[in-house]
Amino acid sequence: MRVDYPTLAKTVAALTAGEHDPVALMATVVCELHHADDRFDWTGFYRVVAPGVLKIGPYQGGHGCLTIPFDRGVCGAAARTGKVQIVADVEAFAGHIACSSTTRSEIVLPVWDADGQLLGVLDVDSDRPEAFEQADAEGLGAILRQVFGRA
Ligand code: SME
Repeated sequence: MRVDYPTLAKTVAALTAGEHDPVALMATVVCELHHADDRFDWTGFYRVVAPGVLKIGPYQGGHGCLTIPFDRGVCGAAARTGKVQIVADVEAFAGHIACSSTTRSEIVLPVWDADGQLLGVLDVDSDRPEAFEQADAEGLGAILRQVFGRA
């Protein structure tokens, strides 16, 4: 099963209409995403809770690390640089945080609110190598902008 991003965007828009609480929005987005694609083995948000510090937010999958500093891991790199990180092989990424030994590849996107403040990152991990491509960055990014970037 492969995600259809435009359809998913519509579903998420319908489910989150009128909701502004970031954790309620994150919980709904991860649930819809996680069950939409077989590549997604761990799907979750890390939230910026202090300068340079990410804390676990809503997620689906096995146990995730609770705290990730901006200078660590793929999530930290996305938060620090504000750029989408696509890692085809986590073993080749220096500083990757191995929360699950089954993770082979991942994509992490920064998440901003309507004021351009960094809320956190969306982390999608796969047990398949080279699972993610630019189309995922675009599809996921569009959903994040639609949900968290609206005023
Ligand atoms: N993808 C992360 C770590 C895995 S999570 O804690 C589920 C990273 O290296 O940033």
